[in-house]
This record gives sequence, C-alpha cells and structure tokens, in this order.
Amino acid sequence: MDKIVSPSLLACDFLNLGAELKAFDNVEDLWFHIDVMDAHFVPNLTFGHPVVKKLQTVTKKKLDAHFMVTDPTFFADNFKDCGIHNFSFHWEATNHHDRLISYLKDLYPSVGIALNPSTPIEAIPDYLLSRVDLVLLMSVNPGFGGQKFIESTVEKTKSLNQKREKLQANFQIQIDGGVTNKNAMTLRDAGANNLVAGSYIFKGQPSEYQQLADSLR
Ligand code: DX5
Ligand code: ZN
Repeated sequence: MDKIVSPSLLACDFLNLGAELKAFDNVEDLWFHIDVMDAHFVPNLTFGHPVVKKLQTVTKKKLDAHFMVTDPTFFADNFKDCGIHNFSFHWEATNHHDRLISYLKDLYPSVGIALNPSTPIEAIPDYLLSRVDLVLLMSVNPGFGGQKFIESTVEKTKSLNQKREKLQANFQIQIDGGVTNKNAMTLRDAGANNLVAGSYIFKGQPSEYQQLADSLR
C-alpha cells in the first residue's frame, strides 16, 4: 500500500484556507483530512457544508472527511456534492453499521470506520472489516487538535494489521491524533499506511509543509 500522509486542516490557517491547500500541490500520496464535528458527538464545532464544498475548487487531492457526528446519515446526504473521496463515520455513533455502510457506499468512493481510543477493534465483525476501505484508529480522544498521542494505539494498530492479514482484507489503516516524526515510523512498522497530522505539519511555514509531510513516511 502507498504511504499516505493526510494533513488535518483543523490546524491550518483558516484565514488563508485556499493558499494552505495549494502549498501541497506538488506532494504525492497526500489526502486532505477534514474534521467535521457537530458539537454533540464531540464538544466542538468545525467545518460546515459551505466551507467543505469550496475545497474541491482549489485542489485535486483526495478529500478525506472524518465525521465526528451523532447523525452520519444526515451528514452523508448533506455533504454529497463536496467531492469527498473517503467518508469515515464513528462506530460509536450508530447501532446500524451494516445499513449505514451500504448507504455510504452508494454515495462515496471510499468508506471508513473510525474508532475512539476506548473502542476495541473486536467491536467490528470480520465481515464488515472486509467491506470497508479504511479503518481510522483515533490516537487521541476526538474533538480537538494538538493532543498527546495515546501510546497503546501502537499495539492496537498491530492487532488490526494482523487481523487484516488473516482476513486477506485490504482496508487502509489510518491513525489520527498526536502523530509526529517521533511516532510515525513505529506506526508504519505496526501496519499503518495512512497517517493524519495537524499540528505537526501546520506548525511550520507553508514552504516547510512538504518536508514536514514527507518526514512522516
Ligand atoms: C481530532 C481530529 C484530528 C486532529 C489531529 O478530533 O480527528 O484529525 O485534527 O490533530 P493533531 O495532529 O494536532 O493531533
Ligand atoms: Zn480526524
């Protein structure tokens, strides 16, 4: 699998959103990670539909939307004209995972399941792991950028990777929260191919973004 880096726009300069995205034009294997929150599933509110809809006009990169919301179906309908490539919903937000995955697959090219730090990978039945395109392991509690990486995510990543091999499934393993150059290689070795990073990348100047993103491969 390609080694993907997904800068989390939550940490970018909102007053220069278009320029922030354009700074990555020449970086390969890069997705933009968009954290959509509803001030209900998590205690924060971020990007709404009008803002996300504009992003596709300034970049050709894949848009990876992480919905931290209690009603993923509503957001799936509402955001379907935003050019989103991957739609990740939180496992904890519904009891109707099978139905939701079928619904999302009709609307989006890629569907992901996100797990809170305290949700074990065993919560997801094998047959659903074989149906999704991505599993996002939260390595901080969702809601805010700039938090400390939860170390037990490394073992969780290894277990998920072993399970993927056993099932001969091909979902991506994405890690989100507190990712830096200090833990990136450990996470890659554990089986993660897609690393989200907000504060680590956007702490730099735009001229440094490429080098900071590539330092996570
Ligand atoms: C947190 C978000 C993350 C966040 C990561 O709820 O899902 O995507 O932006 O930010 P950093 O990399 O700063 O931990
Ligand atoms: Zn996220």
